[in-house]
Amino acid sequence: MTERKDDRLWGGRFDQAPDARFDAFQRSFAFDRRLLPYELAVDRAWAKALQNVGILTDVEVRDTVAALDRIAAELNADPSFLNGSTAEDVHHFIESALVHELGALGWKLHTGRSRNELVATDFRLFVMDAAASLQRALSAFLNALLQQAQSNLGVPMAGMTHMQHAQPILLSHFLLAHAEAFSRDITRLEHAAASADACPMGSGALAGNSFGIDRDAIARDLGFSRITANSIDAVGDRDFALDYLFALTGIATHLSRLAEDFVIFASQEFGYVILSDEYSTGSSLMPQKKNPDSFELIRGKTGRITGALIGLLTTLKGLPTSYQRDLQEDKEGLFAAHDQVADMLSIATGAVATTKFNVERLRAAASNAMLFATDAADYLVHRGLSTVPRSKAPSRPRPYPGERRRNQSVPQSPNCKTASPN
Ligand code: ARG
Repeated sequence: MTERKDDRLWGGRFDQAPDARFDAFQRSFAFDRRLLPYELAVDRAWAKALQNVGILTDVEVRDTVAALDRIAAELNADPSFLNGSTAEDVHHFIESALVHELGALGWKLHTGRSRNELVATDFRLFVMDAAASLQRALSAFLNALLQQAQSNLGVPMAGMTHMQHAQPILLSHFLLAHAEAFSRDITRLEHAAASADACPMGSGALAGNSFGIDRDAIARDLGFSRITANSIDAVGDRDFALDYLFALTGIATHLSRLAEDFVIFASQEFGYVILSDEYSTGSSLMPQKKNPDSFELIRGKTGRITGALIGLLTTLKGLPTSYQRDLQEDKEGLFAAHDQVADMLSIATGAVATTKFNVERLRAAASNAMLFATDAADYLVHRGLSTVPRSKAPSRPRPYPGERRRNQSVPQSPNCKTASPN
């Protein structure tokens, strides 16, 4: 496949070529080429939409779709072709390839549409797929946690608050606390996918489409369940990307907290867990060391994910309504954060699944008699000891807050009964 040179999507009113450094600066193909499968899908749906309103003939649509199929097949066969491309962005790449295949007909597909709606549509499709793939990865990770809980049923441990021994708990209870947090992340991913699930095609550059195209049909063709409501908003809205980044930040933050627990538990002072060799590294200096690097790196990489969320929030803050070129900055951070969280989940799944719990150490810590102080106090109350010292007890029962009738005695709760010495 070859590309026509000097076939920019814009430039009719320009007398001078762009400054070479600025030209390189404004290009996005190096990263938005990741949207190619979605761009091809949108192109197919748009060709049909133009056919339905009589802009493309049946033969033109057949030829256009066949050319799109050939381009897709060539890209699958030899993805390295993309490396030599001089395309400005993913939209330009496909248009150039279509013109190469079809001559002037290749340009006709862009009738009545704008890159502003194209990029928003492609990006939404990417986020919907990405959220679904991370839901699968998250389920695999949850499975590893649940397996560990099940294999260690009945193992006690010292539950901590403020990192101080507090009360005895079960290891399975502790592991399921982590599982609970990750199950909320699944809900967040679902929310992000639902937020992306609206098709902007038909919004034009910002003011809509004058050809009467059937927006619902395009949405259906692309697998969206609804269309966006306002064309000005649709080209400038990146809330779905924020929602996805927030879901990623949730997963990363929860992974980081779990990693912190495992790093501490792997220390000599705790010795609660024995990490597998497969997910640990050694020291170049100290031969005795086995370092919990898998968990440390999971904790460390969380910073980048939070950074991507804050980065996009900062880009969006202060943007005028509708499309602005700043929005091109939405993709790199989100792509990188998605890839990173996918890797973190896969490593965490292996590291958790292969960790051994040192039941003796856990049991020994849980046997510290001080951990039962609360149970001893509860026992005394169950036996009738007052929780309110007799000297502090009110001489007359106080009314309940909000009680209407005055001068009525209030029944005491059984827990507040004065102890009867027996
Ligand atoms: N590459 C752009 C982006 O990622 C899409 C192109 C829209 N460009 C424009 N000048 N309106 O947002």
